Amino acid sequence: MLNHKDNETICRVGPGTPMGVLMRRYWHPVCTSAQLPEPDAPPLRVRLLGEDYVVFRDSAGAVGMLDELCMHRGASLALGRVEEGGLRCLYHGWKFDVKGGVMETPNHADPKYRERMKAPAYPVREAGGLVWAYVGPKEQQPEFSRYAFMEAQPEHRVALRVNVHCNYLQLVEGGEDSSHVGVLHTNMARPGWIDDSFVPNPDVVNPAALVSNDLEPALKIEETAFGFQYVALRKTSEPGVKNARVVPFIIPYGRIIPAPAFLFTVFEVPEDDTHTSTYIVVHGNAPVTEDKIIELLGLDDKRYYDRKSCAYTSTWADNFGQDRERMKDDSWTGLVGVEVEDATIALSQGPLYDRSKEHLVPADQGVVRVRRALLNAVKVAAENGTPPAVGLDLRGVSACDVQMKDGALWQDLLPSHRETAPA
Ligand code: FES
Ligand SMILES: [Fe+2]
Repeated sequence: MLNHKDNETICRVGPGTPMGVLMRRYWHPVCTSAQLPEPDAPPLRVRLLGEDYVVFRDSAGAVGMLDELCMHRGASLALGRVEEGGLRCLYHGWKFDVKGGVMETPNHADPKYRERMKAPAYPVREAGGLVWAYVGPKEQQPEFSRYAFMEAQPEHRVALRVNVHCNYLQLVEGGEDSSHVGVLHTNMARPGWIDDSFVPNPDVVNPAALVSNDLEPALKIEETAFGFQYVALRKTSEPGVKNARVVPFIIPYGRIIPAPAFLFTVFEVPEDDTHTSTYIVVHGNAPVTEDKIIELLGLDDKRYYDRKSCAYTSTWADNFGQDRERMKDDSWTGLVGVEVEDATIALSQGPLYDRSKEHLVPADQGVVRVRRALLNAVKVAAENGTPPAVGLDLRGVSACDVQMKDGALWQDLLPSHRETAPA
């Protein structure tokens, strides 16, 4: 359990809150590149850590992020016109470039006036199919952290966004909770479960495909420069051999999940205390399509996901689309797809789960460690220190799911985790 005070500290991300101060030390994904598909594409509203912004792609293809409300008299720039190298407010026509420069002020034509002004604008990068921004203190702006998926060929990578109506930590904790994989994702993790005949899932893209039927993994955890890595060790049918699934937690909300032939890098970016944008980037050494990933995640069903707005649309109104007839037959959850199962469980915990009433067991060690790592990082940020993962080159951070002989060191499976250093 986590007491109410620590729960509040760790979950609330608005300006001036302890977690809000920590979160503002990192670069954050704010939309996918595909959401701004071409120069002068419609601008997008972005909510990040309880504050509102607008992002747009100018005529030359550069992306900018400004405060949402126009610096003149507060109309939303998300309604504006994107044209001739800038974003123009509909109300009185003030026009801004991607750096916040004021290009025109038609209702006050004196250029000396606009030259003195600058709209609140934020540093932006575009990498790995995502647009990233930094909204923290200027003097603490870190190096931009690169990840392995940013090096992948575009046709070997898919970047998706799913907006879920709950606090980010519920989704983060699901990602560092190995023991749920063999239960919640039973249909994908343990095909054959219905008659107790375990057969490994042959889908090399599925991150819930387990090679073992063991529902009680032993967990081991080690702190790293980016947060921690942990291994879930499961028994196999071969004597002296365990299945080792290593997953990193990248402070403040990142993880990488292994599928047999691909890696899923996931970021649970808080829009505010009760809304999260989940970014899922899949990459590997072979082509992969968005349609395949959408289907795998269960997001090809319109009841669950609106591809245009990226909203996860399932609610209690129809019990999250749960099919109880199928549960009598061959479906453990009555749901279909990895993300649908994960998001449904996180939503079922409520908009902001109070952890003071839960009952943890040793299999929940990963979850406990997430909370401890975040509370420690909050302290570091409050004292103006450099929190874990800030400014690191994260290209060596990975995940794996392999067979390991007894006596071998699990930390040797991904030696780059111990070598992660500043960018
Ligand atoms: S409010 Fe934007 S130009 Fe006046
Ligand atoms: Fe899951």
